Amino acid sequence: MEINKISVIGGGTMGNGIAHVFALNGFQVALVEMTEELLNKSIKTIEGNLERQLKKQAIDEKSKIDTIARILPLVGLDNTPSDSDLVIEAIFENKQSKLQLFKKLQNIIKQDSIFASNTSSISITELASASRADRFIGMHFMNPVPVMKLIEIIRGYSTSDLTFNVIKELALKIDKVPVEVHDYPGFISNRILLPMINEAIYALMECVASAEDIDTVMKLGMNHPMGPLTLADFIGLDVCLAIMEVLYNGFNDSKYRPCPLLKKMVAAKKLGRKTGEGFFKYS
Ligand code: NAI
Repeated sequence: MEINKISVIGGGTMGNGIAHVFALNGFQVALVEMTEELLNKSIKTIEGNLERQLKKQAIDEKSKIDTIARILPLVGLDNTPSDSDLVIEAIFENKQSKLQLFKKLQNIIKQDSIFASNTSSISITELASASRADRFIGMHFMNPVPVMKLIEIIRGYSTSDLTFNVIKELALKIDKVPVEVHDYPGFISNRILLPMINEAIYALMECVASAEDIDTVMKLGMNHPMGPLTLADFIGLDVCLAIMEVLYNGFNDSKYRPCPLLKKMVAAKKLGRKTGEGFFKYS
């Protein structure tokens, strides 16, 4: 099975990066957003990121122009091209919204295409239940998508070997490194990363150290390129909370309880970089 036409649903932090990378590698990409305004913002972000790559001489002017030309911006799920070979969902981390979306897409998109979710933590097996379970898979890209090499490829209970192999090959074609993961809450990346971030937030809440000092300990002491609180701001605190809730509910284990300070900051809409303030302030 050949993948040529790809639709990316949701043009936020992850969706615009996913569209960027596929288009840069020669694929035709439809990018679907909810409103014209969000779509324009998403395309502007892609253009800005391509410009940065151009300045760093990672790409040339022609490849920048060709990449933009390969992206078809669309408003509204109903307009997703029915002949897409692969649909990658990158909307909010909310199970009900994702299930609804796949249920709707099931009637729009041709039957032999593959559905993928970029979810950070929601069960691929559960998401697959709304549509074509054997042709459903997790493609968990890392942020920022144009920079990060890894894709966790998550097999749901019914994901076929054909689907897995097609997606693995595709990941290699866009110069990423695929890792096969089975469907457990948080997969590998977030099962390990998020409890560490959550613990850093507990340390901050309990005034063990300042946000700056917590990050310094992990950067200079553990050689992490970025401290856990800076990383949380980068991921988005709403996304962090959603993942902790999936781990907590998925394992029924109190060691995954989300920190009350994280909950409070999400309620206050201090979501990190995307709102200009999280554990740190951004201009
Ligand atoms: P985001 O909030 O930046 O973007 C989500 C976008 O989806 C928004 O622009 C929204 O308008 C759009 N959207 C929502 N419903 C839609 C619909 N029905 N049709 C079209 N567009 C719709 O979220 P982000 O951070 O990009 O996350 C997306 C997914 O990727 C989530 O499942 C998240 O867990 C996952 N993820 C996030 C990472 C991160 O670092 N932010 C890393 C890896 C995965």
